[in-house]
Amino acid sequence: MNTLLGKGAPTMRSDTSRPLPPKPRFMYGREREKASILTVLLNPSSPARVAILGAGGIGKTTLAISVLYDPSVIERYDSRFFVACDGVTSAELLLTELANVLRLPRNQLDENMHDLVLASFRRDSQEHVLLCFDNLETAWDNLATRRACR
Ligand SMILES: Nc1ncnc2c1ncn2[C@@H]1O[C@H](COP(=O)(O)OP(=O)(O)OP(=O)(O)O)[C@@H](O)[C@H]1O
Ligand SMILES: [Mg+2]
Repeated sequence: MNTLLGKGAPTMRSDTSRPLPPKPRFMYGREREKASILTVLLNPSSPARVAILGAGGIGKTTLAISVLYDPSVIERYDSRFFVACDGVTSAELLLTELANVLRLPRNQLDENMHDLVLASFRRDSQEHVLLCFDNLETAWDNLATRRACR
């Protein structure tokens, strides 16, 4: 499962965050799926949420990354993040991964990681942020973890 969360509002953060995975070199088809995702993500009423579901290897990650590189998405979203969630089996690990992607200062993370991650997104209410969680099912399939992740 790939999940794209678009949040209206947040300022360009400094470009220290982890780079996106490379743009897929080939992507055949998927025009309809991509168009539906773009419709949701570019809708002015935010936040936007999209889940990409499908069998293993069917192309979920490829589609999600191609969306992250779409010119209309680049224009709309000031910041785009890709959060790899393989092995993320708890809300705490999800937060850690988010903190890693955002490259938040390690020395501050132990005490108040949750607050720091949230503060990073709330820092400026004019920025538009797009988060892509890849393989989120690792955390989502466990009901207790799912509740904590929310
Ligand atoms: N539309 C496409 N055109 C060409 N190649 C594709 C396409 N979609 C996926 N692929 C290729 O198929 C392989 C699997 O794709 P991808 O990793 O996106 O699948 P996935 O659904 O995310 O898999 P998993 O469930 O294991 O996470 C990759 O090598 C990718 O390059
Ligand atoms: Mg994948």
